[in-house]
Amino acid sequence: MTATGDGPFDVGALPQGFVWGTATSAYQIEGAVEADGRGPSIWDAFCRVPGAVAAGESGEHACDHYNRWQEDVALMAGLGVGAYRFSVAWPRVFPEGDGRVDRRGLDFYRRLVDGLNERGITPFVTLYHWDLPQALEERGGWRVRETAERFADYAATVHEALDGVPYWITLNEPYCSSITGYAEGRHAPGAREGHGALAAAHHLLVGHGLAVARLRERARPQEQVGVTLNMSPAVPASASAEDVAAARRMDLMVNRQFTEPLLGAAYPQDMAEVYGEISDFSFRRDGDLKIVSTPLDFLGLNYYYPIHAAAAPYGQPDPALRSAFDIGVRTVAPDGPPVSGLGWRIEPRGLYDTLTGLAARFPGLPPVFITENGYGGGDELDDTGRIAYLEGHLAATADALADGVDVRGYFCWSLLDNFEWARGYAARFGLVHVDYATQARTPKASYRWYRDVIAGGS
Ligand code: NOJ
Repeated sequence: MTATGDGPFDVGALPQGFVWGTATSAYQIEGAVEADGRGPSIWDAFCRVPGAVAAGESGEHACDHYNRWQEDVALMAGLGVGAYRFSVAWPRVFPEGDGRVDRRGLDFYRRLVDGLNERGITPFVTLYHWDLPQALEERGGWRVRETAERFADYAATVHEALDGVPYWITLNEPYCSSITGYAEGRHAPGAREGHGALAAAHHLLVGHGLAVARLRERARPQEQVGVTLNMSPAVPASASAEDVAAARRMDLMVNRQFTEPLLGAAYPQDMAEVYGEISDFSFRRDGDLKIVSTPLDFLGLNYYYPIHAAAAPYGQPDPALRSAFDIGVRTVAPDGPPVSGLGWRIEPRGLYDTLTGLAARFPGLPPVFITENGYGGGDELDDTGRIAYLEGHLAATADALADGVDVRGYFCWSLLDNFEWARGYAARFGLVHVDYATQARTPKASYRWYRDVIAGGS
């Protein structure tokens, strides 16, 4: 079958029971950063660094979802989604990172979970979507193992408090939390360290494994636990041996460094070779891989675009990557497929290749939920570009299903325009437009389109 995701999308191609959802995260939408005793996170601190975030913006007010969540749940109900993926803010639960729990923070999420369940919308809870309590960063952050242990305690506390959540996601995109945050400095905490980023990646994975064990100790019937990875296939810029090898190095950094230990119980063999002089892995302990590779009930996949990679001279790292890593790769932008409003490449085939590639590489692959996929643009309400993007990626999903990959659901990123991290508010991903001056929500054309797709498929 020549399935590429390039064909038209037929909702009938998706199975009965396919989960239709939408997704957000705490710091990107909640605002109310001082309400009910919330402590500071690394993102509150990072946003205050001059030049860190476009236009000096921050999540201080964001979509004010903390106060407007009922209106937002009504928007979800209008969309007809069966599921909603959101994250819990660790600093609302443990304002100092550990020790004292603030029940008021937990109560907010309890009300939200109840409100969703009353509307028949299944909550998918992400425990860590990048907002590490600042107090823990000051003790070393993800560079140190203690943070993994504190994460497991936090996960157990949230799990105990929230009844009515069938799906738990430990981490969102550990690649971004480690590499983008500790090597590229583009995300909080804004570090540019090679070795620190490798340690962070490992401790995130250990934290995930420890959290899975804690959740399972007290699991309620039907509860499922997974993790969400961002994956981008690394496509060689040419057939030359140099570019093929460069793409493989990129694939290690973005994808294999995470998939192999989680799903294959081993780190890639070429890791030391690719990372060269920073390859001191003394932070790994005996037994860690067993913890990290605890079997998952599902895998969450976030997909946006593929990466086209070419060989570059060592010692001259790609300025676009701004990384403390020097892996001899530069990204290239071949002519051809269109790009989103943010300049991201639109290649649904990358989603198909990622899904089928995972299934081929890991025969025991658990069921997959596409926990994010979406289009970043400007403030247009007639967002035909977003509709075309979503349609192409749903077609790619259907193609992967037809070719045997067990995909159980799809979450559009995002319900609302929101705080797009270092890009601030100018980059909009919502099905619903947000006017930040008034907090007015206005459904876009894509909202109506997605509503009709869901209605047709259920
Ligand atoms: C992935 C992240 O999980 C999410 O927070 C972000 O807004 C989207 N990608 C879009 O960049």
